[in-house]
Amino acid sequence: MPVNLSNTKPLAWDSANLNADTKAMLDNLQPNILQGHVREHLSVLFLHFGNAADGKRLLRGLVPLMKSARRHLEEVREFNTSKAPGTPYVGVGISKLGYLKLGHSTTSFTDDAFKSGLKRRKDTLNDPFVSAWEKPYQEEIHAVVLVGDATAEPVAATRERVLALLPATVKVVGEETGLGQRNPAGNGIEHFGYIDGRSQPLFLADQVAAERGVNWEPFFPLSHVLVADPLAPRPERHFGSYLVFRKLEQNVRAFREAEEQLADGLGLTGKDRALAGAMLVGRFRNGTPLRLHGKPSSDGHPVQNDFSYRDDPGSKCPVGAHIRKANPRDSRDGGLERVLGVMMARRGQTYGTRTDAPWDDAPPETRPTGGVGLLFMAFNSSIQSQFEFTQQSWADNSGFPREGTGNDPITGQGSRDTKIRLPKAWGSDKLSAPQSEVPQTVTMKGGEYFFTPSLAYLKSL
Ligand code: HEM
Repeated sequence: MPVNLSNTKPLAWDSANLNADTKAMLDNLQPNILQGHVREHLSVLFLHFGNAADGKRLLRGLVPLMKSARRHLEEVREFNTSKAPGTPYVGVGISKLGYLKLGHSTTSFTDDAFKSGLKRRKDTLNDPFVSAWEKPYQEEIHAVVLVGDATAEPVAATRERVLALLPATVKVVGEETGLGQRNPAGNGIEHFGYIDGRSQPLFLADQVAAERGVNWEPFFPLSHVLVADPLAPRPERHFGSYLVFRKLEQNVRAFREAEEQLADGLGLTGKDRALAGAMLVGRFRNGTPLRLHGKPSSDGHPVQNDFSYRDDPGSKCPVGAHIRKANPRDSRDGGLERVLGVMMARRGQTYGTRTDAPWDDAPPETRPTGGVGLLFMAFNSSIQSQFEFTQQSWADNSGFPREGTGNDPITGQGSRDTKIRLPKAWGSDKLSAPQSEVPQTVTMKGGEYFFTPSLAYLKSL
């Protein structure tokens, strides 16, 4: 029996009844795709291969440092039962140019965006010119190695082991260091101060059992992230995923100023001023979804994710809020998002250190204007119809979901000249006077598209 990518039930990865191909898939799939791997500390190495033989030697040499998706899931279970710490995550992605350098043809890859490479997608994504990207990203990047764990030491030690494997002709052209940020409640946040990484497509039975609600179905079939690894010994059981990597710098001061201006424009006072930022993001800083509450009322409770926009024309969560633009859930057609199959597995990490407290109300002038941001990473089965579709047709499209919506206030790129009207009060059908769109405060600094191949492929080199 082949691996069923259109599975209608979440995958019970530990079931004794799995067919041989599915077992082999889990034993050869890299971790962090089906379920996020802890990566509070993260080292990202971008590599250039001098020649095919050395590139292959390195990739083969990395295998003993890596573990399978199955091993990762077992480690998570062991940690949950006995607090036994897991091993570091080592992940590998290869770019289109990397495959060509290794002497492989890329014609059997299914994704045209991957086969173009990120540098050639500027017009699709409204990205800055490559000449404006940070220097390492202007280089030809053949592979990325990700090393992640809960603490700094194992990451540093594993990074050293990776570096020790590099043949002389394999160069590190760039490096990023991811560092998780947490609010006082211990939740992971991004640099504007908001809880991030909460809403994800879930693929595994134990994850779905822990999350299941009545308004939003978090289960998605494997086809959302997995594709056959076309160069593996047995593509019918060896799978991989397309990885988008984009360095997104955040101007926190400018974003906080925009929040303040919007609060003024809407006449919000006192504690209610937090509504302005929530209208941009779709959640309050502590993760409370605006769709469900007009105040950050879930303090002390798990961050809610069981909601749809079915009965909210935009009076509770504005249609232009980041989370609603990026995942309209079933606000139209009773399941637009699900039909289009857009949801990707976001696995990003913040970068840069802070001396201020990102979650508090300290004034904008105390906030950084650069040097901090998000290493945006997402796994897709089609970069074109998932990441690129989200960026181009939703975030950068001021007419989505309807005229007058404006760009995605967080990730939208391109002109921002729509005058937007927001609810006068939470849940009110009355609209505010037209407001200017908030300025763009997230800047793309470079990145690349990769394929994260199966372990079987890496071993075969
Ligand atoms: C610096 C850049 C970004 C920041 C600060 C940011 C921030 C956030 C925050 C605070 C959330 C809410 C937490 C959650 O529901 O998981 C969120 C959710 C989300 N973001 Fe972003 N984001 C950024 C970039 C992007 C990009 C580039 C994309 C895709 C093009 C994206 C897609 C999404 C999606 C799909 C969700 C989940 C929405 C849902 O299912 O409700 N984000 N983001």
